[in-house]
Amino acid sequence: MTGQDPLGAAAIDTGKPHPARMYDWYLGGKDNYPVDEAMGHQMLALDPRVPVMARVNRAFMHRATRWLAEQGVRQFLDIGTGIPTEPNLHQVAQEIGPEARVVYCDNDPIVLAHAAALLRGTEEGFTEYLQADARDPEAILEGARKVLDFSRPVALSLIALLHFVADEDGAHELVRRLLSELPSGSYLVISHATADFTPEESKAATEKLKAAGVTLALRSREEFAGFFDGLELVEPGVEVPHRWHPELGEPVPGQDDGVIPGYGAVGRKP
Ligand SMILES: C[S@@+](CC[C@H](N)C(=O)[O-])C[C@H]1O[C@@H](n2cnc3c(N)ncnc32)[C@H](O)[C@@H]1O
Repeated sequence: MTGQDPLGAAAIDTGKPHPARMYDWYLGGKDNYPVDEAMGHQMLALDPRVPVMARVNRAFMHRATRWLAEQGVRQFLDIGTGIPTEPNLHQVAQEIGPEARVVYCDNDPIVLAHAAALLRGTEEGFTEYLQADARDPEAILEGARKVLDFSRPVALSLIALLHFVADEDGAHELVRRLLSELPSGSYLVISHATADFTPEESKAATEKLKAAGVTLALRSREEFAGFFDGLELVEPGVEVPHRWHPELGEPVPGQDDGVIPGYGAVGRKP
């Protein structure tokens, strides 16, 4: 495990909401603080389906990982991992390919505090946790190289991460930089929130989060697709997450109750 403060306790800021802890609250977890719950309730007031969206997003990660493992991918770099919620990515990947290697990365100290749970039940050296910021791809590449072999395909997994990174903070550049180090046959997996379906609620959510110090950079379908420039999109292309290869998992209760305001896609580096 890489990071200066193994418990992460010193750095956990309980005075403002954090995406990892709010997401944990939506998923029914216990690793969140009153400030996260309060902001979670504000988000629910705008759209009561937010917990369904969180589960739909998580289910997209499971199906995309399963699909990749079935293609023979055995290396995963997952940035914006979140607080562990079973099954975690390595459990899905290693169920199909026990030799799969997974590097997890997040910038929130509370995720570092729970990293041991991400590594549990996995052989030493097969799964690693790295505390780093997505806006610092060089640090991520340096850490990931210690576990992953960059001469063989890697799946770069950015699940519900990039809507926390603004364009001016280099969202597109970081994706390009990370992909530039990965060989042909590597994959990019992204899920991302959008304002395309619910513009008014999305605008209100963005403003509330901004007032609390959290960036929410919602992107249109076209902007989302731009992350895959130069890659071959895997069928069915850009989709709302629950319609991406639904046959690879179970439906999430409530997922058809209106459109889930997000996109998911997988692209292959030629
Ligand atoms: C909504 S959660 C998604 C968790 C998991 N990927 C999933 O989809 O189930 C977003 C995660 O991204 C992390 N995150 C946000 N901004 C980040 C950044 N700049 N660098 C690294 N991680 C970041 C948050 O700490 C949080 O754990």
